[in-house]
Amino acid sequence: MHTPVIFDHPLIQHKLTHLRDKNTGTKEFRELISEISGLMCYEATRNLPTQETQVETPIGPAKTKVLAGRKLAVVPILRAGLGMVDGFLDLIPAAKVGHIGLYRDPETHLPVEYYCKLPPDISEREVFVVDPMLATGGSAVDAIHLIKQKGAQSIHFLCIIAAPEGLELLTKTHPDVNVYCAGLDERLNENAYIVPGLGDAGDRIFGTK
Ligand code: PRP
Ligand code: URA
Repeated sequence: MHTPVIFDHPLIQHKLTHLRDKNTGTKEFRELISEISGLMCYEATRNLPTQETQVETPIGPAKTKVLAGRKLAVVPILRAGLGMVDGFLDLIPAAKVGHIGLYRDPETHLPVEYYCKLPPDISEREVFVVDPMLATGGSAVDAIHLIKQKGAQSIHFLCIIAAPEGLELLTKTHPDVNVYCAGLDERLNENAYIVPGLGDAGDRIFGTK
């Protein structure tokens, strides 16, 4: 099993504080989600392979490096995962984007699938699944099952806040997936919301509450 990475970078922690604040409005919330996602993307891509190349600078030849290996795909879990896509694409504009639609049934808290559209060559790509919240872990586990069914072999999961319950389910069910979180919180409440968390991520991104 890969040990989950919990980011302790001061910039990420600072932005996460504002994100949690109930007085942060929709515009700033979206901006913060995007900025944190970019910083997380930067860290989560640290071990991507590179290969040597050469370019001519105005002064002369330079031996330098470019990304090698698999091309990348980012797959947000709808809706809230959409808020993390732009931060990712700002750094990796050539990445393809897939979408998986899941919502949690309000009674059972179990994920219900309503959409799945992935790049056709997903099996050849390094896949970064993004969703701000990992609560029970049901949505992430199901999304990753779907992506594996389509042939993906190398998968990373990035969330902004995780609950211990979700992290345990995800790492036990998909031990091959690299997991990255900006914050690991205390627990879930009786409605399966993360405590203290940040509330409902989708509603705060899209202003639907
Ligand atoms: C939220 C969140 C995750 C899921 C996490 O989505 O964005 O996808 O809940 O919960 P879990 O770990 O217990 O499955 P939600 O179902 O509220 O849908 P939305 O993004 O459309 O608001
Ligand atoms: N989904 C959210 O948006 N927030 C939580 O705390 C749990 C699930």
